[in-house]
Amino acid sequence: MGENTIRKAVFPAAGLGTRFLPATKAQPKEMLPLVDKPLIQYVVEETLASGIEQIIIVTGRGKNAIEDHFDISYELEHLLQERGKLKELEEIRRISELTQFAYVRQKKALGLGHAVLVARDWVDDEPFAVLLGDDIIDADVPCLRQMIEVFERYRAPVVGVMPIDGPEISRFGVIRAEPVESDVYRISDMVEKPRPEEAPSNLAIIGRYILTPDIFVELERTQPDIRGEIQLTDAMRALARQRPFYGYRFKGRRYDCGDKLGFLQATVEFALKHADISQDFRRYLKNLQLEE
Ligand code: G1P
Repeated sequence: MGENTIRKAVFPAAGLGTRFLPATKAQPKEMLPLVDKPLIQYVVEETLASGIEQIIIVTGRGKNAIEDHFDISYELEHLLQERGKLKELEEIRRISELTQFAYVRQKKALGLGHAVLVARDWVDDEPFAVLLGDDIIDADVPCLRQMIEVFERYRAPVVGVMPIDGPEISRFGVIRAEPVESDVYRISDMVEKPRPEEAPSNLAIIGRYILTPDIFVELERTQPDIRGEIQLTDAMRALARQRPFYGYRFKGRRYDCGDKLGFLQATVEFALKHADISQDFRRYLKNLQLEE
């Protein structure tokens, strides 16, 4: 593999986590643990496994725990060393050595589109990825890696999509598109959170994007919606009318970890695969006498 065409990834992480209150009152939702790792670490690991090493996290007030998590913790390392807990020490060190992060503040909650705009100077004039931490994707080939391959074939922006049937579609950006090859769609239009009867298809945008720098021009022009938020989908929609723009149906399973049910499903599935506890946890689940 030569040098990656995509070198930078933006992580919008300034959201207030209102779907998860009160757990997120005093801690970032990105730090909620799936078994034993915070959500954001899974997404960082997906990014690195996809060949991207430069990550900028768009944070807000109350998000310091994210920076601390990826930093060195001398006190903890010292303590673990002293107590001979070498396995834990190694893991703690590994996290602080994952990669070099940049941080920028989104001072006001003005939406996902605005969060991406805040990273503009850092991204500069090259294509880049955006990953939303609520979406945890379990896949043999990392979802972002799959998307980079599509980007390299078409040299145009790509959003990750998956089919969602029923009224749930209203919780997503939704694309209007024609298939161009297996799992790849050319997008002609898209709409943010449509009413179910107005959804242009059943293909929902999930939190993985590969964008080109022309998105920034559109983001600057995009008007806030009725909630005062600048939507990324609205800016992408304007761009899709001017240039080729693709949707890619990724291979893998997505969990909505910003939602209580999705988070619990992911917890159970990841626990069943976790080397330390899978056997005991499986036994526990089997013995549950669930009433209707
Ligand atoms: C955001 C996007 C939406 C996308 C979704 C994927 O919405 O605005 O287009 O479908 O993420 O998870 P949010 O879930 O932040 O409301």
